[in-house]
Amino acid sequence: MISIIGSGKVGAAIAFLCISNSLDDVLLVNRTKSKAIGEALDISNAIPENSNVSIHGTDDFSKISGSDIVVITASTGIYLKNRIEMMDAQVKMIKEIANQIKKYCPFATVLIISNPLDVLTFVFQKETQLSRNKVIGIASSLDSSRFRYLLSEKFKIKQSQIINALVIGEHGDSMVPVFSRVKINEKNLLDIINETEKKIISTEIQDYWKFLRIFKSRSQFGIAKNTFDVIRSIIKNDELVIPASIVLNGEYDEKDISMGIPVKINKDGVKEIIEIKLNESESKLLKISAQTIRDYIKSL
Ligand code: 2OP
Repeated sequence: MISIIGSGKVGAAIAFLCISNSLDDVLLVNRTKSKAIGEALDISNAIPENSNVSIHGTDDFSKISGSDIVVITASTGIYLKNRIEMMDAQVKMIKEIANQIKKYCPFATVLIISNPLDVLTFVFQKETQLSRNKVIGIASSLDSSRFRYLLSEKFKIKQSQIINALVIGEHGDSMVPVFSRVKINEKNLLDIINETEKKIISTEIQDYWKFLRIFKSRSQFGIAKNTFDVIRSIIKNDELVIPASIVLNGEYDEKDISMGIPVKINKDGVKEIIEIKLNESESKLLKISAQTIRDYIKSL
């Protein structure tokens, strides 16, 4: 069973993808019971014919018992300027959720979507003491999807012509797009753009969520699809390599933080952390990003 804590736009979209692809049973958990039940009733009609999956909604945490995967999308409010605006309230919330998960399904793999993503992933892992391989913050793959999209728009090409558009580091203003690894039609991206263009693209990736909010209240489908891919990889044991936030223990010379870096995912959660080669300026930016996350954690 997949339990999804928070049945707002993102939680409901993840549930819809899991159910319409018959991945597994889904339980939507929401403080407002009627919201969880309403989404479940709607998504129930997307269960494919001949499928064995089901979806239900509840406000009762004890029902997550036996979940194989728990996805945390819950939020205490809406931030406006940056993702750390409500950090204290979010940390309090994640600790409460951590206690429930420890109590009812201590063997689950937990995917964290709520912001500030890296801080919450770190706090959750410390609070539950679950293996770090089973606590995965999903966001850098969304940032990477945005990088790929922005490049495809800039060069007026299809996304399939772009290879290795990867964003690592904080899911926040210090995120690091790895320009040095991107190839477009087999050419190195760095050979075809200048410093100013790089800066513009980096800012556009960082601020993508703000731009989107001019037109729509919050991002929903991009993060839902990136999360669904991880859930499917775990359930089907189908290896997936993506950047995701995980508590570091010396990798990239960092520890005592969680940060987005490339990982290999399978049924066990994070099976392997992949250390890629970065150029000098990217390494420096990643250090700054790690320090930014560390400072947030220290300020708690
Ligand atoms: C996003 O980047 C809000 O973190 C969310 O869309």
